[in-house]
Amino acid sequence: MVQQNGNSEHPPDPDYFQTNPKPYNLDRQITLARSFIEQHAHANSRVALVTSGGTTVPLENQTVRFIDNFSAGTRGATSAEYFLEAGYAVIFLHRQFSLLPYSRHYSHSTNCFLDFMTYNDAGAVVVESEYQQEMAQVLSRYRKAKEENTLLLLPFTTVNEYLWLLRGLAMQMRPLGANGLFYLAAAVSDFFVPAERMVEHKIQSSEDFQEDLTNGNGAKAPAAHMEGKRLVIDLDPVPKFLKLLVDGWAPQSMIVSFKLETDPSLLAKKARYALEKYSHHLVIGNMLNTRKWEVLFVSADGGERWIRVPAARRSKSITSGNHEDVHLQEPAIEIESWIVPEVAKEHTMMIEKTKSKH
Ligand code: PMT
Repeated sequence: MVQQNGNSEHPPDPDYFQTNPKPYNLDRQITLARSFIEQHAHANSRVALVTSGGTTVPLENQTVRFIDNFSAGTRGATSAEYFLEAGYAVIFLHRQFSLLPYSRHYSHSTNCFLDFMTYNDAGAVVVESEYQQEMAQVLSRYRKAKEENTLLLLPFTTVNEYLWLLRGLAMQMRPLGANGLFYLAAAVSDFFVPAERMVEHKIQSSEDFQEDLTNGNGAKAPAAHMEGKRLVIDLDPVPKFLKLLVDGWAPQSMIVSFKLETDPSLLAKKARYALEKYSHHLVIGNMLNTRKWEVLFVSADGGERWIRVPAARRSKSITSGNHEDVHLQEPAIEIESWIVPEVAKEHTMMIEKTKSKH
């Protein structure tokens, strides 16, 4: 039996926030979020916090090198548009320079906005006639979101910035109660370099410039350092913030997490495991190679069901050895246009349940 939200035990925040520095612009971002949330709470609207893109793990304080997590931000940016369409206000917590709602249609490297442009007879730059209709629709939805102030864009880069922001935003969203929704599509690092083990300057690869690490003054060994010609990286685990979010930071909100796998035999098992471990509402499982075509919903009520885009055209080709390489063309519709209404439906049921309790 999966345990629901509202546990009486609220675990204290780990000392992560005492030992890892607050981002310099956190207060400004939280202030923006506060007035956005106040406006929508006042109107009794639902607010979705959509996280998107991958977090980085810097190896040096003055960062030249970093480890990154996979995600273009497609899932998050696309979902954000469908949440707006479903009447939600959206806080879009995204990796800086990853895909954004609306502009994503024209900013990807394979979809450069310049390819949609041409010159008219008077020499002015205009949109090619074949793209006029689609671009007009995207533009009108984008303008509506701006005019109604329903989309707040907040960027992060590092996992540290992400975690501080997630906690800060969750606190701000508390007054929304059950109207708050967390849709955690970001690919968050599981390992990081804690501040106390971060070197200040660029790690020197040349043996002639390497620092002596045997200082014996009790300071902790740096997480990333050279040993001869080898770069050695020894990362700490990132505390599991989903538990804190569910039990402590946002106990009344609906919480949806994603589970990314590459081994199909693990997906359902790992999604169910995450749901039982963190006791939230919904895990959406997806496979790296098929995530635009199918996702697995694993719900707290015990339900498990696949959502598949029906008109996906698939073409298979066999590569060398025993590996089957499945080449998939772009799906005919965006799977998020099905995912988000399903999530919104479950959110409605949760809100109704909360109301009937009071
Ligand atoms: O943008 P695209 O290129 O389309 O890619 C989208 C996606 C594949 C990245 C996305 O759909 C997805 O699956 N995101 C989740 C990636 C993932 O595997 O997360 P995870 O298994 O590391 O974590 C699972 C959940 O736990 C996440 O929702 C995360 O918010 C949470 N978590 C993770 C680490 C941590 N220390 N604390 C957490 O709470």
